[in-house]
Amino acid sequence: MDRTELEEGARKILLTNLRQGVADWNGQEYSFVCPSITGYPFQWFWDSCFHAIALLHLDPDQAKAELRTLMSGALPNGFMPHIIFWEMEKQPDFLSRNIVGQAGDPHYSSTMQPPIIAYAVERVYRATGDEEFREAALPVLVNFYRWLRNTRDPDNDALIAVIQPEEAGTDCSPKYDEALGLTELSNQGFIAALKEIYKAYEPLRGDDQKILAADLFHFEDVLVNSIYAMGMRSLARLLGDSPEADEFNREADRTRDALLEKCWDEEAGAFFDLSGIAEKPVRVVTISSLMPLILDDLPRPIVERLVNDWVSSPDHFWTPYPLPSVPASDPKFMPGNPRGFIWRGPSWINTNWFLSHALRGHGYTELADTIVAKSHECIEISGFREYYHPFTAEGLGARDFGWSTLILDM
Ligand code: GLC
Repeated sequence: MDRTELEEGARKILLTNLRQGVADWNGQEYSFVCPSITGYPFQWFWDSCFHAIALLHLDPDQAKAELRTLMSGALPNGFMPHIIFWEMEKQPDFLSRNIVGQAGDPHYSSTMQPPIIAYAVERVYRATGDEEFREAALPVLVNFYRWLRNTRDPDNDALIAVIQPEEAGTDCSPKYDEALGLTELSNQGFIAALKEIYKAYEPLRGDDQKILAADLFHFEDVLVNSIYAMGMRSLARLLGDSPEADEFNREADRTRDALLEKCWDEEAGAFFDLSGIAEKPVRVVTISSLMPLILDDLPRPIVERLVNDWVSSPDHFWTPYPLPSVPASDPKFMPGNPRGFIWRGPSWINTNWFLSHALRGHGYTELADTIVAKSHECIEISGFREYYHPFTAEGLGARDFGWSTLILDM
């Protein structure tokens, strides 16, 4: 597949998955790409940011529309939901099949997703030079990142906490098994555990501080916090020379330092999430343990440990089609991903996008080139799928999946 064929393939998916109209529940115009027509028919937060970045290579105006639509879902308190149900009437059975926490308004989920939006806005702004777009985005972004700090960081250590695994975007990752009390290792087991959490949250809905204090599922997640720091750097650059830019740069420094002080495990050579108010390190290596590589100011000895011990090791992440979501050495590694039990083995294009850029930035050109070439091969062999078998490149999960078009940006 050459570049033109790749672009054509991506364009087809992004156009097919494009949803446009006026919502009858709030009268607002929407124009966004859903992750998958069949599996994920609404607007997902981090997917939308990835779609906008891919769209920059095909249709910058649509990239702006995608993010404008996403930002139109921000609540006055700053919160941005992980799903906006623009066309709920077309998929009335979705909620019965899926677990999504909802607050008062049934058109939003009441949970968040990894805060990559400031980076996506920065990319769109840099590519288009559209000042109006930047100016309209800034108040939404400032409110959102302040909401994260004020609401999701009760111990004020600059690490924000998620209240259920879908908020981290890596739903069924084995790193959550213990906290979820997962006894049955299957998607059904995961959904049952999530239902329990939602039931317990029910009387606390809409009060994240109380939910965090209840300490039922309280994860200071490495992937989320790496992306949080990356987002705040973008926001600071978008803000230009100003006290607000200093505020977010300072906070990004604090988050980086907290990842190093509290999540880095020198013996394992990896970063671990902290579980509960007691901040118990969850000593399970997953793709998330590598994510601080996306910070360009990560100390060199730590970059080298991550790359030498984990990324480039064939025992762990360097499979024929890297980078698997769980290292091949983990007894729970499931490369074939049975029945929707996701993030437990297969390789995903979004994490490959993050980490190929990160590795390139840290000077590992060859590793980055290989990740890009292998991602490309997965798409060539199996099409734009949700994720891929890390040994065979077999396509798995949803077909015509939106964020796999990120290959255009790799
Ligand atoms: C799954 C993924 C999540 C993604 C969503 C829509 O739930 O785990 O990261 O945002 O699907 O694609």
